[in-house]
Amino acid sequence: KRFKIFVTRNIPQKALDILQPECHVTQWKSDDPVPRSELLKNVPGIDGLYCLLTDTIDGDILTAAGPSLKAVSTMSVGYDHINLAELKRRNIPLGYTPDVLTDATAELTVSLLLATSRRLLEAAEQVRNGGWGSWVPLWMCGSGLSNSTVGIVGLGRIGMAVGQRLKPFGVKRFLYTGRSPKSDSHLLPAEFVSLDDLLLQSDFVIACCSLTPETTDLFKTETFEKMKSSAIFINTSRGGVVNQDDLLEALESGTIKAAGLDVTVPEPLPTDHPLLELENCVVLPHIGSATVETRTEMSVLAANNLLAGLKGHPIPCQVQF
Ligand code: GLV
Ligand code: GLV
Repeated sequence: KRFKIFVTRNIPQKALDILQPECHVTQWKSDDPVPRSELLKNVPGIDGLYCLLTDTIDGDILTAAGPSLKAVSTMSVGYDHINLAELKRRNIPLGYTPDVLTDATAELTVSLLLATSRRLLEAAEQVRNGGWGSWVPLWMCGSGLSNSTVGIVGLGRIGMAVGQRLKPFGVKRFLYTGRSPKSDSHLLPAEFVSLDDLLLQSDFVIACCSLTPETTDLFKTETFEKMKSSAIFINTSRGGVVNQDDLLEALESGTIKAAGLDVTVPEPLPTDHPLLELENCVVLPHIGSATVETRTEMSVLAANNLLAGLKGHPIPCQVQF
């Protein structure tokens, strides 16, 4: 057992089976996030840290870990919870889990879009509470994807997979925006446009971007006002890309028609949050990658990333910084 590592949560056994033969594993054995104080207490002297997106890994944690720390691995594709500058300063590599969750996350994004556009939760609730009177021509009608324009903000791995899944629904045009045009956008095909043009023209606006300083609060009053009043907004990236107070206002006032969110600020969203009272808002508990297969693959990849980093080998999926 050469390496001392700390694992911040219960993770699938398959991942522990990879780590345990080569590491002395200390683990926060819970399905709840490790409290900050426990994290600080457990990192001094470790060689490797295996963390989740619910753990804030900043300079204080890295300083507490000390010079023994050789690698950090997160069981997530997003790494906005990790201070990259602090890692870079200490020359500590970071592993993450792209690709293995692309299909599951795209599938959930499509599910959430359909649940929102076809008002599934609202309709099912009507069946339960006696609101289903008859087959009424315009009752519980939503919006269809046929002949629609879909705008994808962030045409990365997940954004592209979302587009490919939506295409057979008869979408007429795909627009996308982001830092720069993508070389593979012809695969959809999708047209690179400005954010404003995307907002003005899209029937469905889907946020698939990562959370960075440029995308923080990207969706705010000004943004919602540019959207069609019939537009449906979907977010499966990070809650931080949306100003939630502005979104609430846009949904209440009819500035946009509906929203589907798999991510919020905070997570979990308090049960008395006003967004949860709206019929035109579907909120899910950050389950984009939540299939048994995918979560297992993520945990295994994160374990392999960590071991490679500890041994000084090339890390299978390493964040470049
Ligand atoms: C999920 O949100 C992830 O970043 O893996
Ligand atoms: C719907 O059930 C229809 O038959 O139109």
